[in-house]
Amino acid sequence: MFKAPFLVANWKMNYGIKQAVQVTADIVVGLRGMRRKGQLVLCPSYPALLSVKQTIGDESISLGAQDLSGQDRGAFTGEVAPWMIKEAGAEYVIIGHSERKKYFSETNESINNKVKNALKEGLTPIICVGETFEERQENQKDHVVLRQVQNALDGVKVSPINPIIIAYEPVWVIGTGQAIEPSDAEYMHTLIRQVLIDLYPLVVVDHHTAILYGGSVDENNVDEFCDKEHIQGFLVGSASLHSQQFLKIIEKVCKESSAQS
Ligand code: PGA
Repeated sequence: MFKAPFLVANWKMNYGIKQAVQVTADIVVGLRGMRRKGQLVLCPSYPALLSVKQTIGDESISLGAQDLSGQDRGAFTGEVAPWMIKEAGAEYVIIGHSERKKYFSETNESINNKVKNALKEGLTPIICVGETFEERQENQKDHVVLRQVQNALDGVKVSPINPIIIAYEPVWVIGTGQAIEPSDAEYMHTLIRQVLIDLYPLVVVDHHTAILYGGSVDENNVDEFCDKEHIQGFLVGSASLHSQQFLKIIEKVCKESSAQS
């Protein structure tokens, strides 16, 4: 069963091995003595995966990759297979981030293929969905996001050994420092949950799926999102790069969740 809240740090292409290890070590120290709930996942670049895993040691922090190949093995120059990510110690993998759609031509089809490939290897996919500013302006956001979820999960069986995470990230607020209104995010999360309920039994949705919000989450705005019933965690980019800032977010998310339980 999933342990919400989830807090996922997406370090994108910002840190090599040395910096990723340093930030991880600072987070490990900062977490000592902190009473926290849920699941913390650090997603460094591929070359840093193993070193970050070693730095985490026995602490209850998980490792995730930022992408993976839709292939298994063989002549695919530059690709990284799910089993390689697993071998480095990762349990999670971000799939279909908007930057991969924008710069690397990811499609709904390739995302669906990657989701299946991740699950086959026992990696939990963190599937990114979200509308662009133009789609929102044209009143298409509900339709666009629902289709993205449906396409990503086409033919995907979710179960206790194959859980999935959806991250709702409105593309137009990523990296801007300006998150959307928490009530707006909650509305989208409720819609996404409904799609999941249409696809899977309620008990599966309740225990083996989670829906996160991402897009300019920081230590100043995270509390307002924590109040929302269907927001089960966060995918954090910029504000996860600095350990002290990220630790403040961890503290708030955990505190908020204990207060609710
Ligand atoms: P941000 O990035 O927190 O910097 O907006 C989030 C993401 O891209 O996943």
